[in-house]
Amino acid sequence: MKKGPDRQIRRLLTGEKIPYYLLLLADETTEGINRYIYESDIYIIENEGRFIAVYVLQPVDSSVIEIKNIAVDREYQGQGIGLSLLSDAIRRAGEEGYSEIIIGTADLAARQISLYEKAGFKKYAIKKDFYLRLYPDPIIENGVQLRDMVMLKKVL
Ligand code: ACO
Repeated sequence: MKKGPDRQIRRLLTGEKIPYYLLLLADETTEGINRYIYESDIYIIENEGRFIAVYVLQPVDSSVIEIKNIAVDREYQGQGIGLSLLSDAIRRAGEEGYSEIIIGTADLAARQISLYEKAGFKKYAIKKDFYLRLYPDPIIENGVQLRDMVMLKKVL
């Protein structure tokens, strides 16, 4: 298979299995994923019949679209695939006529935030207590409880 970030990204077709095992790398719970997945388009990268990367786009309104989930199989992380998924999402959103693309992550998720900034996103808002309100159990990462979500956007 191709090495590096130039692998083919395609839309998941109706009837294909939703790759929860990947989506759960980026979202704590299946219930959390099910809140947006049925009103979203799913894009994947496949290798030897197995999905290895995913991103999910959900329109917010006629001008804004959100990347609700982005994940790369652990085995393939750090090879530039995440950045190429972001570039693909940005290109697609522009082609579909949206004027802005947004993405949110935990305010403590420094590595994700720096990746999104590398792709041209800029911080514009904090969703206070997002993780407390939407998830029944505390989410602990690196020993710290997640509370707030930071939102980043890119004007297209
Ligand atoms: N966790 C968080 N960020 C990572 C990780 C990781 N395990 N691995 C790499 N990154 C970030 C870093 O900023 C890294 O840069 P650095 O090496 O200078 O620190 C950069 O990504 C590397 O870029 P890519 O190789 O293009 O990224 P990759 O293919 O690894 O994909 C992604 C990045 C999607 C964050 C991936 O690591 C992953 O699936 N992590 C777990 C799931 C996740 O946290 N998803 C985002 C949640 S927010 C949301 O979904 C809207």
